[in-house]
Order: sequence, then structure tokens, then C-alpha cells
Amino acid sequence: MRALVRGLAGSFASAICSGPLAEPISLELAQWQHQAYIALLRKLLPGGVVELPADDRHPDCCFIEDTAVVAGHTAIITRIGAPSRQGEEAPVAAALAELGYAVTRMTPPATLDGGDVLQLPGSTHVPVGMSKRTNAEGISQLAKALPGRAVHAVPLPHGLHLKSLVTALDAHTLLIADTPAGRALSAILASNPLLNGAIKGPRPSPRLQHVFVPDPICANVLLLGDRHVVTQGSDAATEALLDVLCAERGLQLHRLPRATEFIKADGALTCCSILLPDGA
Ligand code: GLY
Repeated sequence: MRALVRGLAGSFASAICSGPLAEPISLELAQWQHQAYIALLRKLLPGGVVELPADDRHPDCCFIEDTAVVAGHTAIITRIGAPSRQGEEAPVAAALAELGYAVTRMTPPATLDGGDVLQLPGSTHVPVGMSKRTNAEGISQLAKALPGRAVHAVPLPHGLHLKSLVTALDAHTLLIADTPAGRALSAILASNPLLNGAIKGPRPSPRLQHVFVPDPICANVLLLGDRHVVTQGSDAATEALLDVLCAERGLQLHRLPRATEFIKADGALTCCSILLPDGA
């Protein structure tokens, strides 16, 4: 596996933020946090990291996950839901084509952010958040373009992206923010029999286990293959929970310093990379 990342724009302090900030974004601290993230990926990924240059015209360009959905040999270039972010996808499309992916592009009126697309390990079923950024046409175009996958639209009235609230720890376990929005999402996911009954894995799994994470930020972990999980610093209860869950599953947990400046811009760990599994 390798990862595609993008440099941090000099304009990152102007990134989109959903709420008022008690403290403005510190570019210097953000640069340090971003470098720590990339250094860890370089250490953990045998295929290395491809880093695209930042574009100061796009303060949010480090959130590269939103620009493309990669599955097998296919890369679907999205139309990002925030108009100010449209254009971030062009160099990503060029890089994925250069790396040998079959690149297809979404067309208007579709909008979709990659942060709404939850690819579950070992499953052909893909929940996609119907969020403020991702519309029904975006989900429809994704469903047509994703080879051999069944796409499920999941209503997401709260939160920025689906993966702001939920990520997979393994083929059997979802980490979900322990907030009213996370609890509501859990009920929606649990009520979908296709999402619950279709998980393939080494152990029989009639349904996905939902684990509620006290620190909502840490419901977003970066799963690298079937061995490494990346999280960030949190409260003691959340850190202990993730330690136990990973130990039980034979996963190595790597804890980055808390990404305070990215959290201010509604960013999470998965937002800053596109993972490229081997064999594509
Ligand atoms: N700041 C990330 C986003 O709004 O897309």
C-alpha cells in the first residue's frame, strides 16, 4: 500500500471552518502536525508516500481525500461539494492517471466529497453519506462508476462528512462518535440488512459491532491495511478504549499528537490522504 498526500497551503489558516474558532488556526503548528502525519505514513507504508504540491489558491487542499474515490484500478474524481474547493481535484486526477489508474470524472450536477465514502474492509458494500456536501446525483454517479460494489446512501443531517462520525477498525468493527449524531447514524446503519449481513472476513460476522468512542474526533482512525491503525492524542478513556480494541484484534496502534489545527478546520486523519492498496 502507498498513500497520496498533498502539501499544506500557505493559506491554510483560511480553510473552511464550520464554527467560530476560539483561537485562529496556527499555520506553523499545522505544518508541524502535517509533517508528523506524513512522516508516520512514510514509516508505515511499504509503498511510500506520493506528495503533491500545495496550491495556495485552495486553503483546504491538504484534505485530499475529498477529491477522489479509489477502488481497485479505478479512480473516480469527485466534484467537491464546497464551491470554493472545486479545482483541488485537477492535480490529483493527473497524479492518479500517471500512477496507472483508470480515471473517470463526476459531472454536474453531482457533488460528492470522498470523506462521505466509507469503504469497509472485506466488504463490497459501501455506505455513502448524503451530507451537505454530497448529493443524490453524486451518489448515483459513484454507484455506476464503482466496479463490483453496492453503494448505500446514508442520510447525514449532522456533521461534515460520514467519516467525521464513523470509520472501520476492521472488517467487523465500526468506531462511531458517541454523540447524538453518531447514535442516530448507528441506528440507521444497523437498520440496513445489507450492511449488516454482507461483511466478509475470517470470522463469521452476522452484524458489524458498533463501538461508541467518547472523543468524537477519534471515531476517525486511519486504517492502513490489516495491521496498522493511526489515531491521535485524546482523553484517557478514549485512549484506553482504542488500546484495548487494537490489542484484542492484533492491530498496531500508532498515536499522533492531537491535530488541533486540522480539527479547527473540521479535518480528521483520513482527510489528509488517499490510500492506494497494492495490485492496482
Ligand atoms: N475544511 C474542510 C472542508 O470544509 O471541506
